[in-house]
Amino acid sequence: MTKCIACIGAGYVGGPTMAMIAMKCPQYKVHVVDVNEARIAAWKTDDLPIYEPGLLEVVKAARDRNLFFSTDIDSAIREADIIFVSVNTPTKTFGDGAGRAADLQYWEKVARQIVRVATSPKIVVEKSTLPVKTAQTMEAILNAAGDRTSFEVISNPEFLAEGTAVQDLLHPDRVLIGSRETPAGLKARQEIVDIYANWVPAEKIVTSNVWSAELSKLVANAFLAQRISSINSISALCEKTEASVREVARAVGMDSRVGPRFLNASVGFGGSCFKKDILNLVYICESYGLHEVARYWEGVLAMNEYQESRFVKAMIRYMFNTIVDKRIALFGFAFKADTSDTRQSPAIFVARKLLDERAQVVVTDPRALDNARLDLGDAAAGVQFTDDPYQAARGAHAVAIMTEWELYRSLDWERIYASMEKPAFVFDGRNILDHQKLFGMGFSVFPIGSPPLKHF
Ligand code: UDX
Ligand code: UDX
Repeated sequence: MTKCIACIGAGYVGGPTMAMIAMKCPQYKVHVVDVNEARIAAWKTDDLPIYEPGLLEVVKAARDRNLFFSTDIDSAIREADIIFVSVNTPTKTFGDGAGRAADLQYWEKVARQIVRVATSPKIVVEKSTLPVKTAQTMEAILNAAGDRTSFEVISNPEFLAEGTAVQDLLHPDRVLIGSRETPAGLKARQEIVDIYANWVPAEKIVTSNVWSAELSKLVANAFLAQRISSINSISALCEKTEASVREVARAVGMDSRVGPRFLNASVGFGGSCFKKDILNLVYICESYGLHEVARYWEGVLAMNEYQESRFVKAMIRYMFNTIVDKRIALFGFAFKADTSDTRQSPAIFVARKLLDERAQVVVTDPRALDNARLDLGDAAAGVQFTDDPYQAARGAHAVAIMTEWELYRSLDWERIYASMEKPAFVFDGRNILDHQKLFGMGFSVFPIGSPPLKHF
């Protein structure tokens, strides 16, 4: 094998990305390492630590050929020519910038570990989403090693979305590679371009300076989240005016300057990135004194919180202003379909609010029940969990769709109606059901962004 790649952090980003690189580039040896022993052990089995359609096939194509998983981070660093770092960068929960700035402690720890262990020149690639100018900090730490070895820091942010990671990695809209524009920086940049060129068309590999690459990732997520908040704001207006947000989104999205995607009104966006990255963008703007810019992006988050709380308030109001002891089935807990990930899922907020109102909450999800239990912490003791949606709905006053799992469209809704308390309510937080049909069966239906269909 010609080159050796290490990846520190075997999570939702590091795992799938390295599996794809290993599958597409048999000439590289790819070593994925993580401090979490259970996670690494799971990557070695057919029961992968994350649920991602099609991922197992990719892993199996390369595992033990040129793709290896271990907890021996030092050896992986020592052997590698190129080190991808995809450890998590959560929102800081303490000290200065708490609640907004990125917590870079894991990143810095990794950088120091690389310096301590490395005996040959390395290209260090930022895969995690990081604040603009992080590369400068990393360079400062790495170069403190003196002349013992040399490092080039590259920014290569990952744009894959969970649930579609394999397709996104196979056919990316673009691969972004940023570097210093020095001879050494440009040489390192080319080495990373060479990896992706094994399967990504040349015109989709975009290069830039390192700061543009770092900032582009934050901005890309902020723009995507902004589209959802924009359409969600309009959903509230549609409910008052008898317009339908689905029809408005279709009409607006057919303008090729806008485009149809990311215009589905919903109970709110979740996931590990959108909130964290916008908070981070806001913090960066504040730190440069750009208060108006910070306020502008804060609005995207404020709209998301409004949408989540509006949803629960409507549930309570329509169920005659009390839900004490009422059984309410949450259909879905993952932050989106086709993933077991529940980070920042609107379902967490909704479940907690319903519990505060002393409802009996039942959670069903085909993949995310383990994470749901963890997210609800102490509150989980008062919640029922089942992977059978029919059982969840039995005896319930209401079903609330929290995740757009395809299977919820094709359930036997007549059967569900028959098993529920009456009047039977459906709150469709993802607008995925046939509302008129459910209304015809006897349900009172509350979509997002169009007037309710009520029998009372
Ligand atoms: C992470 C970041 O959260 C995100 O900002 C970035 O865009 C990509 O990387 P994700 O892969 O979803 O996203 O995170 P996670 O699934 O938590 O994986 C991170 C892994 O790094 C974990 O398995 C963790 O054990 C590992 N890790 C963390 C280390 O190996 N060493 C550390 O010091 C810290
Ligand atoms: C996002 C970005 O899409 C990806 O490029 C980046 O690398 C990481 O962050 P991810 O969080 O995995 O990916 O999922 P995404 O598909 O963007 O969905 C985020 C949230 O928005 C989900 O809760 C989803 O349900 C919600 N959403 C999405 C809507 O509410 N409406 C939409 O139209 C689209």
